[in-house]
Amino acid sequence: DWVMGDYIAEAVQSIRAQVGDEEVILGLSGGVDSSVAAALIHRAIGDHLTCVFVDHGLLRLNEGDLVMDMFAGKLHAKVIRVDASELFLGQLAGVTDPEKKRKIIGGLFVDVFKAEAAKLKGDGAKGAKWLAQGTIYPDVIESGGAKSKKAVTIKSHHNVGGLPEQLGLKLLEPLRELFKDEVRELGVALGLPPDMVYRHPFPGPGLGVRILGEVKKEYADLLRRADAIFIEELRSTLDPDSGKSWYELTSQAFTVFLPVKSVGVMGDGRTYDYVVALRAVQTSDFMTADWAELPYALLKKVSSRIINEVRGINRVTYDVSSKPPATIEWE
Ligand code: XMP
Repeated sequence: DWVMGDYIAEAVQSIRAQVGDEEVILGLSGGVDSSVAAALIHRAIGDHLTCVFVDHGLLRLNEGDLVMDMFAGKLHAKVIRVDASELFLGQLAGVTDPEKKRKIIGGLFVDVFKAEAAKLKGDGAKGAKWLAQGTIYPDVIESGGAKSKKAVTIKSHHNVGGLPEQLGLKLLEPLRELFKDEVRELGVALGLPPDMVYRHPFPGPGLGVRILGEVKKEYADLLRRADAIFIEELRSTLDPDSGKSWYELTSQAFTVFLPVKSVGVMGDGRTYDYVVALRAVQTSDFMTADWAELPYALLKKVSSRIINEVRGINRVTYDVSSKPPATIEWE
């Protein structure tokens, strides 16, 4: 609409005025905020923006390719994809504690990004001078006065505070004044697909905290396939009363990999394979959440598809725990 059109025109002018013809780097995660920031800055300065996409190997099925198709393919933005999955999986080998896993993933992420940024910065006069971040208004508030409220950290969320200073880059944050729903509207107005802009939140450590205990490539591969089936069915199953899909009717939904084997039968044989749990919640603030009352027919279809299509998984369970006392993620 025209309001958003005006907003984009103004934001583009203001980004151009701020950075002139200097180079900008942005860490693209595939999440809503960094994606919209990238699309907006690209609209303003085109090839003076370089996006760095660190693939930690713990993304969802085809997620890395989708990010590349969108930004490098459709938007023609400069994107460097760093495939760091072996590095991440190597460092995670043998580690089972959830907080240790978060620290390792968060720390490596920053290291890999910094190394790429240093290369882009080091290019003499042509080197990057700016680091762009998809900080939105609620992040600004959270890192300001309200800090004392977070006296008890249940789960550490890695954010990349202090990176611009460490890299000696100036900070560009074009979404600082926007709320999440405004960021989404802006994303759609910039031509990003609604499916991407209205995606459920996905944690920074990715599948690393959705594989209980030790993370292994074998587990991640099974989990990715099972989760893709669950999400596909949530998107394609409509609730007749509201006309909305169950993906839209839930705030977050995903599959958890349990490194536990149970017995099953298939054909004439006995199987001894892994278990997954489906998790779907409804919440307005993610501080409390109810498990979603998904239709039995939907659960039935997802279960039978996962067990038939993903060899290695022979049992599917549904998590009926609310938050509190359970958390949304299992780790
Ligand atoms: P919990 O499991 O604490 O999750 O009820 C609340 C929300 O936070 C997300 N979450 C994370 N996000 N890094 C993130 O960026 C993390 O380490 C992390 N842990 C949980 C979770 O997906 C849910 O939306």
